[in-house]
Amino acid sequence: MSSTFFIPAVNIMGIDCLEEAMVAIRNYGFTKALIVTDAGLAKAGVATAIAEKLAMQDIDSVIFDGAKPNPSIANVEAGLALLSTSQCDFIVSLGGGSPHDCAKGIALCATNGGHIRDYEGVDQSTKPQLPLVAINTTAGTASEMTRFCIITDESRHVKMAIVDRNVTPLLSVNDPALMVAMPKGLTAATGMDALTHAIEAYVSTAANPITDACAIKAIELISANLRLAVRDGSDLQARENMAYAQFLAGMAFNNASLGFVHAMAHQLGGFYDLPHGVCNAVLLPHVQTFNAVVSAERLSHVAHALGTDIRGMSAEEGAQAAIVAIRCLAQDVEIPAGLRELGAKLQDIPVLAANALKDACGLTNPRAADQRQIEEIFRSAF
Ligand SMILES: [Fe+2]
Repeated sequence: MSSTFFIPAVNIMGIDCLEEAMVAIRNYGFTKALIVTDAGLAKAGVATAIAEKLAMQDIDSVIFDGAKPNPSIANVEAGLALLSTSQCDFIVSLGGGSPHDCAKGIALCATNGGHIRDYEGVDQSTKPQLPLVAINTTAGTASEMTRFCIITDESRHVKMAIVDRNVTPLLSVNDPALMVAMPKGLTAATGMDALTHAIEAYVSTAANPITDACAIKAIELISANLRLAVRDGSDLQARENMAYAQFLAGMAFNNASLGFVHAMAHQLGGFYDLPHGVCNAVLLPHVQTFNAVVSAERLSHVAHALGTDIRGMSAEEGAQAAIVAIRCLAQDVEIPAGLRELGAKLQDIPVLAANALKDACGLTNPRAADQRQIEEIFRSAF
């Protein structure tokens, strides 16, 4: 089986790498940026600080701070309108997954035309997007380096998965100094999202030796650093290790894709407007319990990467140990115990399951499932 490996051409990372990134941006020769961010980062002055740094490089900019958590079609359309009246020749996304995804939607429609709905699915666009520089401020989604763009269609209550090589950013920037301001809850949720990326990619039917290496290293780093980053947000070493971990997990899932955790979490996010990382964290042990029937050996490697001594264990015992270690990490970083606590409703399960089965992320789950089985996993996670 062949595989294609997608990753931005240039990726700058490490403590205080932002200055180096600014020089790299100037060297592309761009003149005016649409800075796509969220209201929180705009209010905290981070977007203005980036605009000032761009100005130091003789690059003009305009700020669009309308990327909501779980960005919507309306957010993309508002950004597109500002882009066209401002005559920007590139986009800078600043934030976590939401601003990056919103920016990808804007950049893709800017060159391809049409409506963002036209690009739902895999590789539906024909032209490269407007150049996108993605500056990351969280450690989890890896959206700053992936070809995945998730936009909520509020009229259908679903998250559209746009998996398109053309939404891959031109340049990704991961400066841990921009991540120290993340509150505990966001650190935990985004870190568990990265763990989910690594584990789903590792057991994916599209895994290959490159994605395996990325996934296992990511799991080891998350296991050793997420608790530290949650406990003390100013721990720069833990922040940097989490930045590398989420990037490695991104390299893994960008190429091996994901599984039912994401396919199901997208529905919870779209239906109840819940944080992506928390939905993943709650579903992860339940989906891997379902997968253990076919992925026991791989899950035993996950247990080892999570720090469990698996010597003398059968593959099945190793898989159970992985699920225990996942639950333990989630508990230590104070992830809610179940979907009920998040406000999900049992009566919604049939429609959530039906939509999950349509999500492109589920295609590479190692074990196939039908409607009844997905409903069962949702129920087990309540
Ligand atoms: Fe994710």
